[in-house]
This record gives sequence, C-alpha cells and structure tokens, in this order.
Amino acid sequence: MKIAISGKGGVGKTTLAALLINYFRGQGKKVLAVDADPDANLALALGIPDPGSITPLSQMKEMIAERTESQPGKMGGFFKLNPKVDDIPEKYSRQLDGIKLIVMGGVKKGGSGCICPESVLLRTLVTHLVLLRDEVVVMDMEAGIEHLGRATAKGVDRLLVVVEPGRRSVETALQVKKLADDLGLTKVAVVGNKIRTPSDQEFLAEHLKDLPILGYMPFDERIIEADLKARPPWEVSPTLVEIVNDIGQHLMAEKSP
Ligand SMILES: Nc1ncnc2c1ncn2[C@@H]1O[C@H](COP(=O)(O)OP(=O)(O)OP(=O)(O)O)[C@@H](O)[C@H]1O
Ligand SMILES: [Mg+2]
Repeated sequence: MKIAISGKGGVGKTTLAALLINYFRGQGKKVLAVDADPDANLALALGIPDPGSITPLSQMKEMIAERTESQPGKMGGFFKLNPKVDDIPEKYSRQLDGIKLIVMGGVKKGGSGCICPESVLLRTLVTHLVLLRDEVVVMDMEAGIEHLGRATAKGVDRLLVVVEPGRRSVETALQVKKLADDLGLTKVAVVGNKIRTPSDQEFLAEHLKDLPILGYMPFDERIIEADLKARPPWEVSPTLVEIVNDIGQHLMAEKSP
C-alpha cells in the first residue's frame, strides 16, 4: 500500500499522515513513513524523540556524493543517474514502535529543470519506495508533488489531498489534481479537515464535486494542544482516530477487494 498526502500549507497533511501511520501500524503492518516536505515535521507528530537531531537525507552531502559518484557540494559535472538507494530505508531512518521514518529534506531549486545529485537521489529513492518495497508507505508531501515521476505515480495507490473549508485550500487541491492528471495518477481523493459546522462540509462537497471525498475530520482543539506538547494526535483525539481509521480501512479494502 502506497499513500501520498498533499494539500495547501497548514491544512493538516502531517496530522492525517500521523493518524494513518498509526492505523496501519495497529493493523500489524510494517510502515515506512516518509517526510517529503522540505519543512519537515512528521517526526514530531509521530512522537519520535529529539526530532531536531535528525539530518535530512538532502543534507547528507558525503552519502549523496558517494551514491551518485559526484563531487560533494559541487554543481555541474557528471554523476550517476541511478544511484544505489535500496539500503537507505534501513541505514538512514529513525525507528519507533514499528514505524521507520525517512526525512528527505528540501533541495534548493536551481534554474528551471535543474538536475542535481540531491534531487536525483531523492527521486530515485521515492521510485524505489513506491515501486519496490512491500511495506505500507505513507508520504507526507507539500502542495507540489514533484518527487513523483510518471513511472512512480503509477505505483501510488492513493494521492490524498487534505482540504480545509476555504477557497485557497480548494484551489490548491484542484491544482494538485491537475498535476496528478499530468502524471497519469488518477487515484486522487480528498480528506476534509478542520470542519466546524455542517456548512463547512457542504462547502467542500460543493466545490470538490469531481473528487471523491473519503472523510471529514472535525476541528478539534486537542490537536492543537497535542502539537504544542509534542504529543502524537492519536493520544489526544479519539474522534479523529476513529475517522482516520475508517479512511485507512477503506484504503485497505480498496487495495485488496
Ligand atoms: N482537525 C484539527 N483540529 C484542530 N487543529 C488541527 C486539526 N488538524 C490540524 N490542526 C492544526 O493545524 C496546524 C497544521 O496542521 P499540520 O501540521 O498537520 O498541517 P500541514 O498541512 O502538515 O502543515 P505544513 O504545510 O506546515 O506541513 C497544526 O497546528 C495542527 O495542530
Ligand atoms: Mg506538515
């Protein structure tokens, strides 16, 4: 099972990712959690101790140079386009109670279409995770889905786009849908979050008619508190746990009918 999560900044991508990861782990699955947001914070949401001490892969200059046979920190020059990545999940992840977390980090964007060793390594890794691993993989991404290439997109079982009641988050969802279409990724679905009133839900249903909506997570003060206290969301909100468990169950049923 390979799940990617996208959506506008602050809508609740990491919260949904953490709750889904917790669900799959509860089902006895091995879970690979991938923080693919340059502004990484999944470790914190998963309750992994001392998240500040994690070095994102994109900053592991020596490792990237060794794998891509490039010069560390140097632009240009030749390097390998198919670096070895299959041991990265074991070697460079943090592990906690059945979860392996990989933090990818951001790659500075050069000119248009920049191909640099960091981005080649991360893309190759994502392709490996999506196409060749048999764990459940949950990727917490940003609003873009640039780590996904055409071949990789085919291996994604669901791209979940988180939306909150508001036009900007709906706009972003429609843009993500378009990017996904361009990659041939048709399995896109929406999860509503921070729902306070029935009209919030109606707003989303009305503006996202063309996309299946897998569930609505209510606004819950306890999630904010958990965030402040660095506690995982499943410890504080049984309401959200129940809703996300239903979504997880739906995804599993869809995968193996
Ligand atoms: N259902 C909810 N009820 C209340 N607060 C929520 C809910 N979901 C998320 N939040 C809060 O909203 C903020 C953003 O959530 P989260 O970090 O999950 O979003 P994100 O989309 O991953 O953000 P970013 O784009 O910064 O990575 C956090 O402070 C979180 O506690
Ligand atoms: Mg996030």
